[in-house]
Amino acid sequence: MSCTIIVGGFFGDEGKGKIVAHIAHQDHPTVISRGGVGPNAGHTVKVGEKEYGVRMIPSGFVYPDAKLCIGPGVLVDPRVLQKEIDEVGVSGRVFVDGRCGIIDEEHIARDKSSEHLAKKIGSTGSGCGPANSDRVLRLSKQAKDIPELAPYIADVAELVNQAIDNGETVLIEGTQGFGISLYYGTYPYVTSKDTSASQIAADTGVGPTRVDDVIVVFKAFPTRVGEGPFSTEMSLEASHSMGIQEFGTVTHRERRIGNWDGDMARYSAMINGCTQVAITGIDRVDPDCYGATEYDQLSQTAKDFIHQVEVDVGRPVTIISTGPELSQIIDLRKKK
Ligand code: IMP
Ligand code: MG
Repeated sequence: MSCTIIVGGFFGDEGKGKIVAHIAHQDHPTVISRGGVGPNAGHTVKVGEKEYGVRMIPSGFVYPDAKLCIGPGVLVDPRVLQKEIDEVGVSGRVFVDGRCGIIDEEHIARDKSSEHLAKKIGSTGSGCGPANSDRVLRLSKQAKDIPELAPYIADVAELVNQAIDNGETVLIEGTQGFGISLYYGTYPYVTSKDTSASQIAADTGVGPTRVDDVIVVFKAFPTRVGEGPFSTEMSLEASHSMGIQEFGTVTHRERRIGNWDGDMARYSAMINGCTQVAITGIDRVDPDCYGATEYDQLSQTAKDFIHQVEVDVGRPVTIISTGPELSQIIDLRKKK
């Protein structure tokens, strides 16, 4: 019976999708609502042999018993949304707030052809920046103006708050990561909106007093796609020699890889109001930890790393992901 926000603590792609999916299977939320910018996000969830990449619907979709909501703060690309709904087969439980801003073809064209956005900032080319700027100028359409979206339109804020009133479990998914927040990130190399937990709550219409937990997800080895400062970045050769190579879900660009950044983690946890930490990719700290499901199965090297994270952040590490699959996870939430 609680409302939990899950956000990315570094530069996005921390593995929030898997953490949300895991928590959903454990905690049985009735509602999973996403905040964040829009279809610039890519969430990868692996269930058994099947891998899904979603950009619009909440990554908690793999849990079959929750309503899947898109909060009013989020930008919707109706084409991307419809394709995902069809592919994933979730049409009966998707709810899109009528106030969501709309991305049209022209926003995508503007994003891709802009020297500033496409080249200097390294945007995802999904139209989010231009659509958010039109929204601020009060020129953009809203989801309720688009006939194809009519079957999905709802008052998501009302729906989410009612679930909280009824004592149901609600998960609120953030997208992107702290380091690319418009307010707190490495401006101007950032996305077109704040990405911290307060913004994610606002995106879905939940007031700060209604949130019980904020889980900040950090990657053991942070990554960054696109341009901009990355203080702990290592060379691609160094990361390749460690067996680490990643590509973006949306753009397929190779991700830049860095070492753990304790200072950034602390600052990110502070702004996010972090109550618990989730760590992903511990199997990269020590490959022997791959697939572990109990804390005691972790090596001393991995345990030392977790301890360092808790010292840096000042909050307990309660979830540790040990591989890409949903089942490869250690959940200490009830013990801590
Ligand atoms: P935009 O959000 O497409 O305008 O891109 C601005 C910057 O944010 C670029 O560096 C993108 O690579 C980055 N970015 C946007 N969304 C994500 C995400 O979901 N994960 C990681 N990086 C992102
Ligand atoms: Mg991603």
